[in-house]
Amino acid sequence: MKLHTKTALKGEVTIPGDKSISHRSIMFGAIAEGTTEVTHFLEGADCLSTISCFQKMGIEIQRNKDTVLIKGKGLHGLSAPTGILDVGNSGTTTRLISGILAGQPFSSTLNGDASIQTRPMKRIIEPLTQMGADIKSEKNNGCAPLIIHGHTLKGISYQSPVASAQVKSCVLLAGLYADDKTSVTEPVLSRNHTELMLSAFGADITSNGTTASILPNPHLTGQKIEVPGDISSAAYFIAAGLLVPNSEILIKNVGINPTRNGILKVAYAMGGKIEELNKRTVSGEPVCDLLVRSSNLHGTVIEGDIIPTLIDEIPVIAVMAAFADGTTTIKDAAELKVKETNRIDTVTENLKVMGCDISPTDDGMIINGGKPLHGATIHSYLDHRIAMSFAIAALAAEGETEIIDGECVNISYPGFYQDLERL
Ligand code: S3P
Repeated sequence: MKLHTKTALKGEVTIPGDKSISHRSIMFGAIAEGTTEVTHFLEGADCLSTISCFQKMGIEIQRNKDTVLIKGKGLHGLSAPTGILDVGNSGTTTRLISGILAGQPFSSTLNGDASIQTRPMKRIIEPLTQMGADIKSEKNNGCAPLIIHGHTLKGISYQSPVASAQVKSCVLLAGLYADDKTSVTEPVLSRNHTELMLSAFGADITSNGTTASILPNPHLTGQKIEVPGDISSAAYFIAAGLLVPNSEILIKNVGINPTRNGILKVAYAMGGKIEELNKRTVSGEPVCDLLVRSSNLHGTVIEGDIIPTLIDEIPVIAVMAAFADGTTTIKDAAELKVKETNRIDTVTENLKVMGCDISPTDDGMIINGGKPLHGATIHSYLDHRIAMSFAIAALAAEGETEIIDGECVNISYPGFYQDLERL
């Protein structure tokens, strides 16, 4: 994929459905009774992996573009899968589905691509094992393939060492099949879509600070869900609008759940001109349209409790920082190392080849911004968020940039380059 300097971006873009919410709509629809109708579903490869896993367990799922009908069979309606459950590139599929599979009366094997086979699964194996689950890493390296022999489960109070919605959701989903209440406490609150959506399906789930608790064996009922636009996808257009001179972009339908909206807080702290318009609630989630104008950005410090609310946006925030005057420091973000790639390494390497002064640290990076960047050959390493972040860097840099393996944007945003081109 080749991209060039732009002198202005103008127009509107409607953001595709939220990836986290799309995954959950399929999973919860499958274990609810009756039909769940999902509109504005994200047709990204990750969410299609979740659909195919549940189809393999006997759930009828019909898809017509971004509308999906799931014929749920109730909490105990899944059947033993026909073959290995292929999670593709999706950490969310792997970790959330494991919580459901741990309590089933059958065995299953989960596996995915080369990246997924390096991602840490001990973080779910440990709490699930405490609940009585029989879950093993086939190669004994704490990674997929995972072999799960369904088992009776007991409710636990789990103190999670990481702020991870995937870990929290995995344990809460296993809690549906346990003999007693299950609680998860995180060091910092992570995204709360599981709590919001499971409650709408009829689960008895409560949140108190950084603790979420669930009671077992609820009656879950199919729902109508409209998936809000994904702020993690909107992030690329936020950055593009701020960085490319003479730009004005209306980004429509953006989910701004407070556990996800850290990018907006950082953009404001850097001097970004953004208006939040037409605020509304869609399927229990706060949504708005964002009007973004080119701005002179300055550096900031990003650390502490805000990190889980912007973890997936750090690559594009680093790009913003590269063009901002002064220094931006990102700390407390060691989780970046265990995403689709080690994003401390992949961001640093690629920003350096474009001429940026950036130093990696053990839990983040330090960026001395404000120097003009030049076009370069960028390696996405098949990480969708690296490809999209550097597509935006390319528009604000001088000359031509080529993104190797740029088509991996299909994981979370199949129409990304077309939407960008329209502006
Ligand atoms: C997700 C949670 C986050 C995020 C991922 C999606 C989710 O991961 O990075 O893209 O849908 O729950 P962690 O929970 O591992 O931080």
